[in-house]
Amino acid sequence: MNKIFSVGLIGCGHISETYFRGHDYFNNFKIVKCADINHENAKKCADTYGIISCSVEDLLNDPEIEIILNLTIPRAHYEVAKKSLENGKHVYSEKPMAVNFSEGEELLALSKSKGLYIGNAPDTFLGGGIQKSIDLINQNKIGNVRLGSAIFAYPGVQSYHPNPEPWFANNEGGPVMDMGPYYLTALVNLLGPAKSVHGISTKVFEKRIIGIGQKKDQEFTVECPTSYLVNLEFHNQALIQITLSFDVVAHQRNHIELYGDKGSMIVPDPNMFGGSVMTINDDSGLWEEHKTDDLPLGKINITSQSSRANESSTNANYRGVGLSEMAYCIENKLNHRCNGELSLHVLDIIKSTMKAADSKSPQEIKTTCKKADFFTLEEVQKILK
Ligand SMILES: NC(=O)c1ccc[n+]([C@@H]2O[C@H](COP(=O)([O-])OP(=O)(O)OC[C@H]3O[C@@H](n4cnc5c(N)ncnc54)[C@H](O)[C@@H]3O)[C@@H](O)[C@H]2O)c1
Repeated sequence: MNKIFSVGLIGCGHISETYFRGHDYFNNFKIVKCADINHENAKKCADTYGIISCSVEDLLNDPEIEIILNLTIPRAHYEVAKKSLENGKHVYSEKPMAVNFSEGEELLALSKSKGLYIGNAPDTFLGGGIQKSIDLINQNKIGNVRLGSAIFAYPGVQSYHPNPEPWFANNEGGPVMDMGPYYLTALVNLLGPAKSVHGISTKVFEKRIIGIGQKKDQEFTVECPTSYLVNLEFHNQALIQITLSFDVVAHQRNHIELYGDKGSMIVPDPNMFGGSVMTINDDSGLWEEHKTDDLPLGKINITSQSSRANESSTNANYRGVGLSEMAYCIENKLNHRCNGELSLHVLDIIKSTMKAADSKSPQEIKTTCKKADFFTLEEVQKILK
């Protein structure tokens, strides 16, 4: 029997529901209290899930709370994570780790000096789809990966989010900051750390119009680039071309394709947990399907269609596994997979990509990290209900 960690939630917005659903799947954490700068949000969340709401300060000082789950907006991740660590709590935050590299560096150093765990979403790379891809690469199915492409492209959140402005704000907005974490975290776990980045960017629309909510039909100014074309070089010599865009109505490209010296691979959606991996080793056109819907973290458990281009209408979503795996590692004094070194390296790639495009000059990636060990079935089963 694993210890059940008492988790305090800070930031009771949209994504919190997904983490409460994690209670159905994972056996070693329980969200027992919640807080938000907007106390109404905390109260509503507490009423919905039958837990206690309190002020952010009280939650941070509560001796019952062992891990803070930080689901605030990106701009607030640093402040909330820092306060959590200063108050002697382990912390697991949503992506990205912070909006500035120096903040991420400070958080990692603070967690080490305090002997506390710091974890970050995304945890989608622990799902069946990316783990199956890693397994096949480890088995040398397509040889050494030397080339590849990745794409996330859709029209942006303004049509269905009542407060879309932060996605288009300077420094904290744009597709690299928002969706980059899923793609880059998956690629780093597939290929190892990144070495350098070249990029160009553009802004297709100067203004956007809000599609729903109290501000419906209001126009706002787009402050940041909304499309990036990126060339990312990895230490293992792989060159990956990545498109990240909020300016594309629809497309039909695969999320990630990897080209090895023995064959090619289509990697399933890194924003989700399941999907089949496809491989081929000749020019027959006959792709081999490697299913993941029989794996515990690949089984289909959602049927809702999001507005995102090229997203499957049925999928596997086991968000929260990163938090659960971190709790298991705290209890057993192990290194967790969604760790601070990985999220700082991903933040480094994000900020370097934005700087490369902005300055029109390639950037070296300063940090490094280890590829996480393959997440074995036996390890997954230890934290599942
Ligand atoms: N993993 C995913 O699939 C996924 C999906 C959507 C969003 N996200 C991430 O989750 C985070 C939250 O997204 P959301 O859509 O739930 O946002 P949201 O705006 O719905 O909710 C954020 C909540 O945080 C609160 N908050 C903001 N600053 C705070 C602070 N300093 N202290 C306490 N509370 C604060 C807000 O009042 C709000 O209730 C973001 O980082 C986002 O990138 C992840």
